[in-house]
Amino acid sequence: MSVRQSPFLVMLHAAKSAGSWLRSDSQRIDSTGPIESERRDDLPDSGSRFEYLSVPAMSLPTIPAEQFAEVKRGWDYVRHATLGLAVQRVLRDDVPGAMAEAGVWRGDCARFLHMFAPERDLYLFDTFEGFPAPTDGEADMRFKDTGLDVVRSVVGWSEKIKIRKGIFPDTAQGLKDCRFSLVSLDLDTYEGILCGWEFFYPRLSPGGYIFVHDYNAMEYDRGPFRATTEFLRDKPEGIVEIPDQWGSALIRKARR
Ligand SMILES: C[S@@+](CC[C@H](N)C(=O)[O-])C[C@H]1O[C@@H](n2cnc3c(N)ncnc32)[C@H](O)[C@@H]1O
Repeated sequence: MSVRQSPFLVMLHAAKSAGSWLRSDSQRIDSTGPIESERRDDLPDSGSRFEYLSVPAMSLPTIPAEQFAEVKRGWDYVRHATLGLAVQRVLRDDVPGAMAEAGVWRGDCARFLHMFAPERDLYLFDTFEGFPAPTDGEADMRFKDTGLDVVRSVVGWSEKIKIRKGIFPDTAQGLKDCRFSLVSLDLDTYEGILCGWEFFYPRLSPGGYIFVHDYNAMEYDRGPFRATTEFLRDKPEGIVEIPDQWGSALIRKARR
């Protein structure tokens, strides 16, 4: 049957063409580093880019419609939809434990975690004043434009939201026996991400997820990539990369 004869195949063909921006002649893939690619400013906005995902041929059936609408309105469809599917999988599989984000800034990502599972405890780790002062090199002055009131207004007010203000991992004190079902690591630096793996991985329930933002990003001397590669070297889980805006990756902990 030709593409012209089938409305379904026409739709599929259009969807595949819409995805062709993923391929770039400037991309280089090797086995020792993350994918290098130039910044692409010519991409269509996420609304039109992913519109085809809502046709019946491909949908996100486990995410309730009103949450899916929020995700489509958001600024990183792939990241938030992938998180949504993972949270729903955690709930469906009864994976026990709290959720957490380390590196919260204003709570734009944490908001989705709470929206997807408001019944789960959600630990939020950040200075809420920007990066800790570096031991050497220049200070990164970004992410200072936040505060607890900002975070509470973005994420929402709930007793389930546990704010841990200060320098991570110091702020994880007292949580030695806590178990986690889904964690978002978004601390940007090699040191921060390595501390995140060291604290959360042993406390992650089987079937639980850890997302690492910036895994394929070029910033911070590829700190998130280096820390993750180093930490996972002797672990059974492999990384899964996703094509969101800053190159996230994730693992799902082996079910023993
Ligand atoms: C990229 S921002 C997080 C963005 C957020 N996850 C989002 O999606 O909107 C990184 C955050 O990590 C925080 N951070 C970095 N290192 C930290 C540390 N060791 N302890 C606490 N917060 C840290 C910074 O204050 C900043 O708010």
